[in-house]
Amino acid sequence: MSAVVTDPNTHPITPDAGEPVLRAVNLQRRYAVARSLFKAGATVKALDGVSFNVSAGRTLAVVGESGCGKSTLARLLTMIETPSDGQLLIDGVDVATADEAARRTLRRQIQIVFQNPYGSLNPRQTVGKALMEPLLVNGIGADHAEREAMARAMLARVGLRPEHFERYPHMFSGGQRQRIAIARALMLKPRVLVLDEPVSALDVSIRAQVLNLLADLQAELNVAYVFISHDLGVVRHVADDVMVMYLGRCVEQGPRDAVFDQPRHPYTQALLSATPTVDPALRRPRILLKGELPSPINRPTGCAFRTRCPQAMPACAEQSPELVQRGPQAVACIAVTS
Ligand SMILES: Nc1ncnc2c1ncn2[C@@H]1O[C@H](COP(=O)(O)OP(=O)(O)OP(=O)(O)O)[C@@H](O)[C@H]1O
Ligand SMILES: [Mg+2]
Repeated sequence: MSAVVTDPNTHPITPDAGEPVLRAVNLQRRYAVARSLFKAGATVKALDGVSFNVSAGRTLAVVGESGCGKSTLARLLTMIETPSDGQLLIDGVDVATADEAARRTLRRQIQIVFQNPYGSLNPRQTVGKALMEPLLVNGIGADHAEREAMARAMLARVGLRPEHFERYPHMFSGGQRQRIAIARALMLKPRVLVLDEPVSALDVSIRAQVLNLLADLQAELNVAYVFISHDLGVVRHVADDVMVMYLGRCVEQGPRDAVFDQPRHPYTQALLSATPTVDPALRRPRILLKGELPSPINRPTGCAFRTRCPQAMPACAEQSPELVQRGPQAVACIAVTS
């Protein structure tokens, strides 16, 4: 009997990964949007119910096309926005029911790095000040000298030089700026780091260096990563577990090797077929998806992917497929039955 996956407690993704530090249960986010003067407003289901667990020292990669809800998920996880529905638990504490003091503590535990560090770093603040600021705001460190020592240690840890401490963000390259953003996010020793397309804006040569730095930091600090990317090559490199999203829903999730070696959902298969690979054994015939990504305002009925799916059948229009455990991974497709 195959279980429908609605409660991630029964679906730890990788079974032996340990106690989850981050747990999402049916997380949802809707936005009300005005359409035009004469049309009634509509609701965008930017995130339409995702569930997962992430344990300390592990990486969950979230993949999907532009607009599928990845950054919306990042904003919910980092408590920048509140979910419209569903539950978010950090270290077992429910964010929604925590009191203000507990929420402050939880906020420190989960930090974010954005694609464009230029946007997240204050251009008028030196790197040193940017690193010390989270300590000051949270009352960490006895005095300025102690905070400076902590900031300098982190600067060295991410591979920057002592003289960089006094410099401003515009004086750095893209890769260096991303190192600064990572350093700043780690100043409060978070348990979880959400990385929203952290290397997408970087040159290929720099990308590997930043990914290696992230891997080293994870091993050293035992921090959990939620790594958002549309680049499956990068995901294969960094992920322990993978969640594939389409129009605000998860269509497939499971351990990395299962999802990459034996993708079950037609959407995952199409994404993977479009990813270049050097290993001829892994090369697959290219599956071309027809049509455009539908708007989340006008979601197709039934399975949202059916309008582009090469395997679509009439029954796909009837009901939205549930995420069901199929071997090592969970899949939301009525054509996948075992
Ligand atoms: N504040 C908002 N108001 C209305 N709609 C929004 C809002 N934020 C996001 N959306 C919509 O929700 C959907 C998901 O957006 P989101 O930014 O999460 O996608 P994404 O997967 O991060 O895309 P990308 O890969 O382009 O960064 C999109 O259709 C977007 O237009
Ligand atoms: Mg985004």
